[in-house]
Amino acid sequence: MGKIAPSLMCVDLLNVERDIKLLEEAGVDYLHVDIMDNHFVPNITLSFDFIKSIKRITDIPLDVHLMINNPEESLQYLDMLTAGDIVCIHYESTIHIHRAIGMIKDLGVKVGLALNPGTPIGVIENLLPDLDMVLIMTVNPGFAGQKLIPSMLEKIEKLRALLNEKGYSEIEIEVDGNVSFDHAKLMYEKGADIYVGGSSSVFSKENSIVENCKRFREII
Ligand code: DX5
Ligand code: ZN
Repeated sequence: MGKIAPSLMCVDLLNVERDIKLLEEAGVDYLHVDIMDNHFVPNITLSFDFIKSIKRITDIPLDVHLMINNPEESLQYLDMLTAGDIVCIHYESTIHIHRAIGMIKDLGVKVGLALNPGTPIGVIENLLPDLDMVLIMTVNPGFAGQKLIPSMLEKIEKLRALLNEKGYSEIEIEVDGNVSFDHAKLMYEKGADIYVGGSSSVFSKENSIVENCKRFREII
């Protein structure tokens, strides 16, 4: 069964606690927290202080997606995270990716590696022993509400095949970007495990958060 990770950059920022309580009621698996630096991606969203506040009001594990340059220089600000949380950094965001992954492991959290749409899956081969998850960006990172890049569906399938072939079938695949209800079905068929629900699913205006999550659960 797939896991739901609602993207908190899509919550009603004037009613965060209300929306998080609804996500708890919906039984989601993670809260996806996008951190951006306006350099690695052209946007600024949530912050490390926001994460500290979230940790005070919920026990849902956090899935922290760092879209920042040289993330190894900022890991010190994530000392509020615990073993069930994930820290996911971009392959493209540092020249010393292996060292940065080791530093995340030293935090005692799960490690994710995110790949931009233009980055081939082959880059992960030497990093597999240290990963818990690989995040496939299905849009170019930086903004919610973008359109799915269709070729990313095949990339999910190829990644699942590569992980299984190399003996790392336990590594989970997360998909992030325009994960609508229809797209989630296609991604599920291609082998995705964790689904970042954003403006086109969990936070779609079609229904309530709880209703949207229920519909999402029926798909994955
Ligand atoms: C985009 C972020 C996503 C974004 C998804 O860079 O990583 O998590 O919030 O939003 P939607 O689902 O609207 O594409
Ligand atoms: Zn994200």
